[in-house]
Amino acid sequence: MKVLLAGGAGYIGSHTALALLNAGHDVIIVDNYCNSSPESVRRVEQLAGRPVELYEADVRDSSALLSILSGSRPDSVIHFAGLKAVGESVQVPLAYYRNNLDATLTLLECMGKTGVRNIVFSSSATVYGEDAPVPYVETMPRGRCSNPYGWTKSMIEQILEDAAVADSDLSVVLLRYFNPVGAHESGRIGEDPRGIPNNLMPYISQVAVGRRECLNIFGNDYPTPDGTCRRDFIHVMDLAEGHARALEYGAGRKGVEVFNLGTGTPYSVLEMLHAFEKACGFPLKHAFAERRAGDLPEFWADAGKAKRILGWQAKRSLDDMCRDAWNWQEQNPMGYQPS
Ligand code: NAD
Ligand code: UFG
Repeated sequence: MKVLLAGGAGYIGSHTALALLNAGHDVIIVDNYCNSSPESVRRVEQLAGRPVELYEADVRDSSALLSILSGSRPDSVIHFAGLKAVGESVQVPLAYYRNNLDATLTLLECMGKTGVRNIVFSSSATVYGEDAPVPYVETMPRGRCSNPYGWTKSMIEQILEDAAVADSDLSVVLLRYFNPVGAHESGRIGEDPRGIPNNLMPYISQVAVGRRECLNIFGNDYPTPDGTCRRDFIHVMDLAEGHARALEYGAGRKGVEVFNLGTGTPYSVLEMLHAFEKACGFPLKHAFAERRAGDLPEFWADAGKAKRILGWQAKRSLDDMCRDAWNWQEQNPMGYQPS
């Protein structure tokens, strides 16, 4: 299959590109590098031993996108292109609505004009909202999101559902990611956040490599077994392989389907820290700090539907996630920038 990855130079997109190339698919990437660089794609090509068709363009630029789609004629699109920092979305909500919604609308319009009928969308567990009971099951309704980033995901799901009602040939697969972490086993590609990391795993990795002094653990008085929040951390290569299954599934049908991509097992912030210390072989400086606004005490996936219907389940362990995250960070202390 020929697959266009919008936002494919980013963290999840680059790992998915590699998984797709390894599964024999052809990959086209469109990215404006607002949160990535072409270096990730160069490394994906090296690892796969095959080229990627790479375009630098903003997905909101309909004339650029139309010319790429009509020239390359993909069978399916995976839509990763979006801004994703929760805290930043509270500061600059309009930038988040503008980028994430416009990118989706432009992509759908251009797909319509060029006859591309299959789309897989990077959604998030955040759409279950603040009040959903755990574990999250796909049959639950979307809930009230706690920040503009989350609302963009919820709104885009609605947009895609409406588009599929209006166009009965459209196939939409909504993938609700839980907490992707880790890196490809080679250590050649991985997560490379700009500035101070917002997310737990890259922060821990940067403490380990000496770029940050101390991990602040946001809250140790939650109603959880050790008082720190619990999340469903999933190895990014498991997630990437889930995309390959979802693509194949979506290409053979019409209408909307939604899948959780998680492991079904939560780990606490302290458990993550200790697993990482085991992987890197030394203790990491940490301190307890105030709770972070908007954090939920715990959530994890019911991962049964993806297993039943896609035949996919996460197979990599917490130790694998930490080993691979450390391998990437140790080999690339400054990420994709030369150190
Ligand atoms: P990322 O920032 O590494 O990747 C997103 C990519 O999209 C980047 O390469 C960026 O340059 C590109 N992009 C953004 N806007 C664009 C535009 N208008 N035109 C072209 N390219 C554009 O993020 P990621 O972690 O790889 O996430 C991929 C997707 O998955 C995002 O939509 C994100 O919201 C979603 N998601 C991520 C997580 C997570 O924890 N990483 C969790 C749930 C959902
Ligand atoms: N945490 C710390 N210290 C840090 C960073 C994080 O203690 O320096 C804690 C947080 O307080 C939280 C846990 O680690 O308890 C996980 O936080 P992350 O920021 O890594 O992940 P979140 O669960 O907050 O959010 C992530 C993505 C969102 C997505 C959500 C659900 O960032 O995009 O998962 O999929 F919506």
